[in-house]
Amino acid sequence: SRASMTDGLGRRIDYLRISVTDRCDLRCRYCMAERMTFLPKNQVLTLEEIALLSDLFIARGVRKIRLTGGEPLMRRDMPDLVRRIGRHLGGSLDELTLTTNGTRLAEHAARLHDAGVRRINVSLDSLSPARFAHITRGGEISRVMQGLDAAREAGLAVKINMVALKGVNEDEILPMLHWCDSRGFDLTLIETMPLGDTGEDRTDHYLPLTHVMEHIRQRRRLTALPERTGGPARYYAVEGMGARLGFITPLTDNFCADCNRMRMTCEGKIFMCLGHEDHVDFRAALREGGLEAVQPLIGRALRLKPARHDFRIGAAAPAAALSRHMSVTGG
Ligand code: GTP
Ligand code: 5AD
Ligand code: SF4
Repeated sequence: SRASMTDGLGRRIDYLRISVTDRCDLRCRYCMAERMTFLPKNQVLTLEEIALLSDLFIARGVRKIRLTGGEPLMRRDMPDLVRRIGRHLGGSLDELTLTTNGTRLAEHAARLHDAGVRRINVSLDSLSPARFAHITRGGEISRVMQGLDAAREAGLAVKINMVALKGVNEDEILPMLHWCDSRGFDLTLIETMPLGDTGEDRTDHYLPLTHVMEHIRQRRRLTALPERTGGPARYYAVEGMGARLGFITPLTDNFCADCNRMRMTCEGKIFMCLGHEDHVDFRAALREGGLEAVQPLIGRALRLKPARHDFRIGAAAPAAALSRHMSVTGG
């Protein structure tokens, strides 16, 4: 039987999220500051380092890998990296997937599919070009639309991620659901989390998804679906639609008890929780002593995994609970 990793609370860890770069061509207001300082290249893992560490984690029981960022398609060597990790598919790896902003998807979609990717998550918080430009501080929605068309043509299943923001895109949730349904996409709504200073107050825009769900329920019957994708979303079938609707509710309905995730930053730090500062530096060990030096760090990392995050939003909560941005840990 295969190796498996279990944390101190008995949670099996088989989902690795890798942030392959902290860079992004967009500057979403809830995610980044307008002016960001990015890591110098020598601190970022090389393709070979990411591939070696992926091999190691797969050998230890990881069955699902998601490449994130920043924007993963910003890396020039992404096609090679995806092919390299994709070699494990059909064997010890069940799924290799990506979370992307879609701006460069048009040129990559077919190659991703060739490498074995079958499903991607694309962040899209508005369908209005002007509003999209506002939220992303200058992004062009047409590029994302071209990317989504290419993904469909390539045969990639698409889930749209929409961060629900009060007073920003709240009125677009139902239109987005209809739009996704018309295109054969699923939709996941996400509560904004207090990660990294963005220069904006998140409390103003925090929208509890409990309210949104009630609002939708008044119009359409929602039926909870038993299936999970291995991520934190809970999915519902929507009356009269093919699209599934997911909710990611770190603040209103904590899902930490059945967390199966670990994260690797683009610098090779292993974080066992999105919401904590504790981590283990795998890059240093790898560069000094090779894979042998890394092996013993896995147990240490597993022991670091906390019971839950303690994000809070409200009067008593700081604007950013953690100084680290989501783009560093890969969401
Ligand atoms: P699938 O279920 O495989 O479709 O993906 P996913 O929802 O795990 O991945 P995705 O990259 O689309 O993440 C969507 C949102 O979920 C992001 O905002 C992530 O930050 C958030 N998320 C993913 N895992 C966790 C987690 O362990 N804790 C918290 N608080 N948020 C998470
Ligand atoms: N809170 C919630 N979701 C966020 N994302 C980025 N920053 C935040 C935040 N502070 C989302 C992106 C993307 C996913 C990986 O994380 O929109 O869909
Ligand atoms: Fe797991 Fe941490 Fe995410 Fe909670 S916040 S679900 S403990 S990774």
